[in-house]
Amino acid sequence: MKIDFCVPCLLGLEGLIADELRAMDAEDVRAENGRVLFSGDEYLLARANIRSRFAERILVLVGSFEAHSFEDLFQGTKALPWEDWIGKCDLFPVKGYSLNSDLFSVSDCQAIIKKAVVERLKTKYKIPWFEETGSLYQLQFSIMKNRASLYIDTSGRGLHKRGYRPAANAAPLKETLAAALCEISHLRHYHQLYDPMCGSGTILIEGALMALNIAPGLYRRFTAETWAQTPPEIWQRERAAAAELRRRDVDFRAFGSDIDPEAIRIARENAHRAGVDKYVTFEVWDLKDFEPQTEKATVIVNPPYGERLGELRDARALYRLMGEKFMPAKGRSYTVITADEDFEKYFGRKADKRRKLYNGMIRCQAYMYFK
Ligand SMILES: C[S@@+](CC[C@H](N)C(=O)[O-])C[C@H]1O[C@@H](n2cnc3c(N)ncnc32)[C@H](O)[C@@H]1O
Repeated sequence: MKIDFCVPCLLGLEGLIADELRAMDAEDVRAENGRVLFSGDEYLLARANIRSRFAERILVLVGSFEAHSFEDLFQGTKALPWEDWIGKCDLFPVKGYSLNSDLFSVSDCQAIIKKAVVERLKTKYKIPWFEETGSLYQLQFSIMKNRASLYIDTSGRGLHKRGYRPAANAAPLKETLAAALCEISHLRHYHQLYDPMCGSGTILIEGALMALNIAPGLYRRFTAETWAQTPPEIWQRERAAAAELRRRDVDFRAFGSDIDPEAIRIARENAHRAGVDKYVTFEVWDLKDFEPQTEKATVIVNPPYGERLGELRDARALYRLMGEKFMPAKGRSYTVITADEDFEKYFGRKADKRRKLYNGMIRCQAYMYFK
């Protein structure tokens, strides 16, 4: 079956997601602002969930149309082939949002979409009532500039939830963003990765998963695993194929340090759960004592941003210290992600490359030094 998909993503990651989907044999891949569209089949549905490092979730795009009124929304929704997905007994709650559109009441839109899907299924299944006790088909809608798009979520919990981080310290980086920082820093399986402010270890763990080519979703479950359209054989085949891709011949090593002993304890546990503890070493260490133990080093850091008044001075003192510690040298590269637009001033050098990224709702930049 040919399926259209949509990946909503953190702003700045669209290009990376488009590339990883192309590498999974996705077709018609198009990166737009905040989302990536593509098409494929049921196997790709499972593959994208299991293998994607940067996507937030994989949605089936059921259809989209212009909607200026509730009638437009009702008729447009009713015209879509919901019976291709939702069975007689399945559960289909609706959620979504509307932005810059004539239809702005989310609860009214939700109720109208639900009614339209019920009407469609009533005629197709010739039954008056849906018990909704079966598999979950979470419907999602977005209405942007009067264009409604209707989706079904295949993932369930966000794909950043790999399963290795039940515990985190105060300001953890999203796993998808940590993986993206490793990718834009050109991390390879023969590199030595350092994070001297590693907190719960996310950058190092994502780096190790990437270096070993371990699919991030290999050990977790997805909503679509209970769907009639994607029976267990599909998931088994895709999990086995992803497991085959694991690289064994790696020289990769990662070194994490943090001033907070509790963060280091959590980071060790997380690395163990992720199955990469053999490749990562953690120490309690102040940044002022940081010195890479190897000649070559890929350093990636997510320091405190100092968002609250009073903390900014401390954060900037750390940027100054980083400027002294992160000296240019052959085989060394440094990537720092921060929301502080004056970062370069305190660090003391202009970045060789900058890249805009969002850490949740916070607009950040990755400052990259490799010369
Ligand atoms: C934004 S958090 C990093 C979060 C991490 N990326 C994660 O995913 O959990 C910043 C970290 O810097 C650490 N830190 C602050 N000052 C430090 C210093 N002088 N030396 C080393 N680590 C420090 C904090 O303990 C905190 O864990």
